[in-house]
Amino acid sequence: MRLCVNIDHIATLREARGGLEPDPVVAAGICELHGADGIVCHLREDRRHINDRDVRLLREVVQSKLDLEMAVTDEIMEICIEVLPELATFVPEKREELTTEGGLDVISESKKLERAIDQLHAHEIEVSLFVDPIEEQIRAAAHIGADIIELHTGEFANAVSQDELFDQLDRLKIAAELGATLDLGVHAGHGLNYRNLHFMHEIEEIEEVSIGHAIISRAVMVGLPKAVEEIARIAKQFD
Ligand code: PXP
Repeated sequence: MRLCVNIDHIATLREARGGLEPDPVVAAGICELHGADGIVCHLREDRRHINDRDVRLLREVVQSKLDLEMAVTDEIMEICIEVLPELATFVPEKREELTTEGGLDVISESKKLERAIDQLHAHEIEVSLFVDPIEEQIRAAAHIGADIIELHTGEFANAVSQDELFDQLDRLKIAAELGATLDLGVHAGHGLNYRNLHFMHEIEEIEEVSIGHAIISRAVMVGLPKAVEEIARIAKQFD
């Protein structure tokens, strides 16, 4: 199973001070050096974390695979075609949401999505659609020419009981099998973490996972001891 690391929250931290650090472009290089199979970033309409400069520099720096998460709008489509990521993952986007809240409604947006897929295919960009594990949505994704579906694992990740977790895992299994039968690549993402990722191995069709928040949160905690030690040494240097 390939691991793609979403670096949006490095940029979230930068934006908290509006400066230059931490730089998601530098973080992308570190992720690649340490085993990431790809780098994911979401260029949101409101630029709340990743910005245009990041995407352009990421294109220069990322050597594995760049996955641009995006809403299908004229502005972002233009940037995508300029930057040429290996993969574009279409997601729904609401300005007021904290994070992507659910999959695309491929059925009701099929015309718009199909046109966007065709446009990106003309530039040899693969397209993945972020969908809930729902049969009709997956069939619609295949029908309009998507290359890949990324199954939304949010409900699985948020399950509050063992029963619910296994129910959600079953939904993901059935959806992944259907995707593979329809010749779609199958990815998964949202809310995956150090405790629940192992369940994804039970679904052999899942080729790739996209993980952000858990990795960046962990990085803060495992990096904190070294960070404090380093600055404590400077603080106490002349005592
Ligand atoms: N996949 C998609 C389509 C997403 O929108 C996100 C969140 O940006 C992720 C994966 C990663 O989710 P998380 O940050 O919870 O790992």
